[in-house]
Amino acid sequence: NFHPLKDKLQRPIRDLRISVTDRCNFRCSYCMPKEIFGDDYAFLPQNECLSFEEIHRLTKLFVSLGVKKIRLTGGEPLMRRNLPDLVSQILSIDGVEDVGLTTNGVLLGQQAKPLYDAGLRRLNVSLDALDPELFGRLNGRGIKPDVILKQIEYAREIGFEIKVNMVVQKGVNDSEILPMAAYFKEQGITLRFIEFMDVGNDNGWSFKKVLTKKEIVERLKNAYELEPMDRDYFGEVAKRYRYKDSDARIGFITSVSESFCSSCTRARLSCDGKFYTCLFASGGFNLRQMLRSGTNDEELLAVITSVWEQRTDRYSDERTEQTAKNRKKISMSYIGG
Ligand code: GTP
Ligand code: 5AD
Ligand code: SF4
Ligand code: SF4
Repeated sequence: NFHPLKDKLQRPIRDLRISVTDRCNFRCSYCMPKEIFGDDYAFLPQNECLSFEEIHRLTKLFVSLGVKKIRLTGGEPLMRRNLPDLVSQILSIDGVEDVGLTTNGVLLGQQAKPLYDAGLRRLNVSLDALDPELFGRLNGRGIKPDVILKQIEYAREIGFEIKVNMVVQKGVNDSEILPMAAYFKEQGITLRFIEFMDVGNDNGWSFKKVLTKKEIVERLKNAYELEPMDRDYFGEVAKRYRYKDSDARIGFITSVSESFCSSCTRARLSCDGKFYTCLFASGGFNLRQMLRSGTNDEELLAVITSVWEQRTDRYSDERTEQTAKNRKKISMSYIGG
């Protein structure tokens, strides 16, 4: 008899977000500010990252406890060598219903085809602006938006289902909301506006820099007729709308103005094998150490179960300027969003 694993707030474990590297070829100020992630920044050495065998083994255990959705993230996941091998290993696990990957898109030219051949079908691509100068500044590397748009087109031709994520910062890229909406509506690609969050430490966050879903919808309504759609599945992060005159959709990830902790079914695994129960956790449980000291599956399952059963996280419900400033958090590039 299978009793689904639940945490202290009665939330099941359904998603596992796996960070496959802490490195990235971008330096977005809200995620990997250059002042902190400079040339001499000490990223994890390779032997401290989980091997594909280790990730596969842990994923199987998580799936046996109720996980159905897997998301591969980073850092920039396409910087991890041989990623398609991991995709096929994960897809071979009985009980995995969905695998997605979140990327900045730069390396899709080399990797989209092998990933598709390995069985991956869903990509979420981050893109914060269409204005070349602004986007180059936001990504910290001077990469132009055309590069990403071309990769999106290419991946779509191969057959991927693609969503685009735009993190909106008031006074920084909110002027790009309408141009982005127009472009992706035309393309028939779902664009999701993400409320700027206080992830990591020192990412310059304050409530003043958040443009809420309500405010974004106001602006869109001046140009388009929108109607809200029903939720796709329990615990869906994005609130979705459809344009009245098109099949295109848009979504909002309202982590700040309408937090969704009460239905948060997401577990996270960092590249060095720590198990986190919240994006804003200050610490994680070291599973790598257990893996590498010969712990058997039964003992690993017992530990994962007990960590989840004790879970009480609901950071976004509790967020204030104070917690944003004072609470110690793990960095987003390490835990993968
Ligand atoms: P699908 O719905 O499966 O396509 O993916 P997703 O929206 O869950 O994944 P994606 O990596 O595209 O995440 C989009 C945004 O939602 C990112 O900014 C994430 O940081 C944010 N997000 C995802 N999960 C959580 C969460 O549990 N808590 C908070 N606060 N934000 C989250
Ligand atoms: N607030 C909101 N979203 C963020 N992301 C990275 N940092 C932040 C932040 N501070 C987004 C990325 C990517 C997704 C995984 O998380 O742009 O789309
Ligand atoms: Fe890299 Fe994504 Fe972080 Fe930007 S948000 S620095 S692309 S991991
Ligand atoms: Fe889940 Fe933590 Fe995000 Fe709330 S803040 S939705 S508990 S990851």
